[in-house]
Amino acid sequence: MRIGIIGAGQLGLMLGEAAEALGMECVFVDPSETPPATSTGRVIQAPFDNEAALAELGQSCDVITYEFENVPVEALEHIPGDTPLYPPPAALGVAQDRKNEKALFAELGIPVPANRSVDTLEELEAAIDELGMPAVVKTRRFGYDGKGQVVIREAADVQRAFDTLSPQPLIVEAFVPYDFEVSIIGARSPSGETTTWPLSRNEHRDGILRTARGPVDDDALYAMARDYIGRLLDHLDYVGVLTLELFVADGKLLANEIAPRVHNSGHWTIEGAETSQFANHLLAITAQPLGATALRGSPGMVNIIGDFPAAARDLDDERLFLHDYGKSPRPGRKLGHITVVAASEKERDELLTTLDKL
Ligand SMILES: Nc1ncnc2c1ncn2[C@@H]1O[C@H](COP(=O)(O)OP(=O)(O)OP(=O)(O)O)[C@@H](O)[C@H]1O
Ligand SMILES: [Mg+2]
Repeated sequence: MRIGIIGAGQLGLMLGEAAEALGMECVFVDPSETPPATSTGRVIQAPFDNEAALAELGQSCDVITYEFENVPVEALEHIPGDTPLYPPPAALGVAQDRKNEKALFAELGIPVPANRSVDTLEELEAAIDELGMPAVVKTRRFGYDGKGQVVIREAADVQRAFDTLSPQPLIVEAFVPYDFEVSIIGARSPSGETTTWPLSRNEHRDGILRTARGPVDDDALYAMARDYIGRLLDHLDYVGVLTLELFVADGKLLANEIAPRVHNSGHWTIEGAETSQFANHLLAITAQPLGATALRGSPGMVNIIGDFPAAARDLDDERLFLHDYGKSPRPGRKLGHITVVAASEKERDELLTTLDKL
């Protein structure tokens, strides 16, 4: 089986590693010179929407997928018609625009924070009057790692938020006083077989995911999250891995966003679950039975962001697994992560606290 992957960043790297273990081969399209996934397959160096590169990918591969969320949906039309492309482009179209995302959540009865789409300062002011403060203004498209967002706490912030983010189309959301954040990752195959990993509890710092750990020990929350992601997977006739990010407030879930791909909050599934999100994504898109998602011990992960502490390379502990994406340091850039698989939640949390201070 040869898998074509649009994007060769760290998600591509980890897909490539999982593919190797499953006896599959990967070919990537990526504009960078030596992107992280280079070690796991041939990279066609071209823009993500390059017609010739996508056509070549289609001709040489059995199935195509993407690990980069901002591929123009129209570009995917350059892929020859008989090569399957998963997840379905419709899912990508929804995830690329927060307005579409919120509309789909509403259509499927999945609760969301109160929100309004706005294009002008007047609309933004009116939305803030309705929603109250604090509120979060976000660009509808191209946001990641908390970029393209401004929190409005007082009236004076409204103009500043608009000046910072316009002329891009915007969405305003009521600020959710959440107790904590979780994500649920699910995989669905063409036959409709669906599985999920236990809930991950996620902590962000400066808008960027810092730690993730599972499972969240709350059966009612897990059942609710499984129901919501199941609605999305079935509605989209989804194939592959889908992530749903949620806020937990007063024992209820509010949907934040979806990612139609493997996700940073599921990196602990590599060593911390019987089958990782990467392996199940590949099994799903190649129409094979999905692997078991039961956890191994108490897993978690901490991201290495901005610069790579030397101590991270010297760790010698069989409960820790270092993943180095081979990227050059830059403030706010995800350079790697360390997975923890511990015997208990207490032990896992202590290890994450220690790693957080490296
Ligand atoms: N309405 C909200 N209320 C409270 N906090 C919020 C709200 N929206 C976003 N946040 C905080 O900002 C983080 C990033 O927001 P969001 O997931 O929408 O953006 P993103 O740039 O796509 O982030 P990522 O790439 O990490 O998924 C959330 O995980 C949460 O911590
Ligand atoms: Mg997010």
